[in-house]
Amino acid sequence: MKKSKKKKKSNIWKIKQHRDPFFKKSKTLGYRSRASFKLIELNNKFKFIKKNTRLLDLGSYPGGWSQVASKIVTNGKILSIDIKPMTPIKNVKFLRCDIFDLETKKKISEYFGGNLDVIISDMAADTTGNKSLDSIRTNQLCAEVLNFSSKKLNSKGVLVSKLFMGEDFIEVKKLAKSIFKNVNFFKPEASRTESKETYIHCYILNSL
Ligand SMILES: C[S@@+](CC[C@H](N)C(=O)[O-])C[C@H]1O[C@@H](n2cnc3c(N)ncnc32)[C@H](O)[C@@H]1O
Repeated sequence: MKKSKKKKKSNIWKIKQHRDPFFKKSKTLGYRSRASFKLIELNNKFKFIKKNTRLLDLGSYPGGWSQVASKIVTNGKILSIDIKPMTPIKNVKFLRCDIFDLETKKKISEYFGGNLDVIISDMAADTTGNKSLDSIRTNQLCAEVLNFSSKKLNSKGVLVSKLFMGEDFIEVKKLAKSIFKNVNFFKPEASRTESKETYIHCYILNSL
């Protein structure tokens, strides 16, 4: 993309952001991202984060979801992971690493000692400018998180993950149904209407 076109796009994005009610609310309430409100809505609907929850937050930077979880979880454990560095949050352990590295998976098992109740993933692949490709790459991340959850979660565990209503959506839904007994979809109001983003909520592994 040419420099001038890129700059114009970034200015339009900034104007949109400042008019956005969730962006304004996040600044007032001290949340690091407007994404916080997506997790608040998801948890109001499905009620999966409780005070004693042992929770893994994938793709946590800048920390909006971890901030929300840390306010609810007072007697559990929170581990947050991102490839980008994240400023510390009270009661949240952060690891800067790639979730798909073998070493990261080992560290997760060690931290939770095989007792993990909830995985939340807002992971998104870096944008390329090609919406269809971006959607496929983020849905691949979601599929990998689904497979990962089947090995790491308690049998009655919950997974909430971002995905896109793209061409491979049905494939991801099929995969989710092969792993979990219950699969729901929910698009929070804080998720932009023009975005194909939605969230999958899965609970109770089929092996139970
Ligand atoms: C939309 S942001 C998450 C926003 C966050 N939930 C919040 O509330 O502030 C997506 C994040 O996923 C992270 N990510 C993408 N692939 C990843 C991977 N393989 N391992 C760890 N983090 C990853 C990106 O670095 C990015 O920070």
